[in-house]
Amino acid sequence: MHWKLKSKIQNAISLLPSAASYEAYYWVQRHYGGLRHVDPIMGFNAAIETWTRIQNQDQSPIGKVFLEVGTGRAPIVPIAYWLMGAKSTITIDLNPYLKEDLIAEHLRYIAKNKDKTIALFGSLIDKQRFDALVSIATKSKLSVSELLDLCKIVYIAPGDASNTNLPDQHIDFHTSYTVFEHIPPNILTAILREGNRIIKNNGLFVHRIDYSDHFSHSDENISAINFLQYSDNEWAKYADNRYMYMNRLRHDDFLALFESIGQQVVASEPDIDKRSEKLLKTNGLSLNERFSLKSEEILAIRGAWMVTKKYG
Ligand SMILES: C[S@@+](CC[C@H](N)C(=O)[O-])C[C@H]1O[C@@H](n2cnc3c(N)ncnc32)[C@H](O)[C@@H]1O
Repeated sequence: MHWKLKSKIQNAISLLPSAASYEAYYWVQRHYGGLRHVDPIMGFNAAIETWTRIQNQDQSPIGKVFLEVGTGRAPIVPIAYWLMGAKSTITIDLNPYLKEDLIAEHLRYIAKNKDKTIALFGSLIDKQRFDALVSIATKSKLSVSELLDLCKIVYIAPGDASNTNLPDQHIDFHTSYTVFEHIPPNILTAILREGNRIIKNNGLFVHRIDYSDHFSHSDENISAINFLQYSDNEWAKYADNRYMYMNRLRHDDFLALFESIGQQVVASEPDIDKRSEKLLKTNGLSLNERFSLKSEEILAIRGAWMVTKKYG
């Protein structure tokens, strides 16, 4: 779909009163968008990738407490943390987006594809926990609260990760998957400060950030850096709504942000986008002044994993 048409639809739906707007947007996503077919593979992979990055820092996530920022429609990442041995996950979302029919569809996939799911986790899976999940997944009627209880998931929504009300040093790991690019910089700073307060001294932040223009995910005619040609005011006309807001912070901005709140970056794994790299080298995109002084290496980064820990 042409990205400007998508933007018009999102802007129009976001003008509806909240409850009607959420329902309308869900309906559009379910019938025409990314939620037409769902399975838990991407969420499981996100959790496995997070888990292995913790292990790469010589820490064991088994028996530990996770906090996930931005649950989204289904608690797939927290389910995966539990399947791999986490003690519990507190998952917080500003919007109560959980959808029972969608969760049921994820569980049906797991029940139908047991071997494939076990193979995905490999040696990381706790087989007893997996069997317990499958027995919930094969029930005729899903109980979301039973699922959350089984997987030791505390779901807080509406809730704000910048103000969790959790005690100091309560969690071991602070994680998110493709969430931080959607949060305004001042709130992001507050979320990281709050994370710094509630995380144990030896805990880790593990975050995946998608820097790409999200309109490029459904319009192949534009590149991942298409949005860097616009000023903040121009861009706001296209995407300053509850469904598509993107802060357009780049990798260097995120590195500086983590450092500014007292988190030392211990691993940063940027992915370079070849198409963007070529566009930048051939001057194929006129960059807005907010981005024109940044290096091509920074601008061509499409996404990154960041692992950070408290200084000291
Ligand atoms: C793009 S969605 C990603 C959801 C999920 N991680 C996924 O990959 O499907 C971003 C989520 O972050 C949530 N969010 C935004 N600001 C937040 C905040 N301050 N605290 C908690 N969640 C927030 C949004 O409501 C939304 O559900």
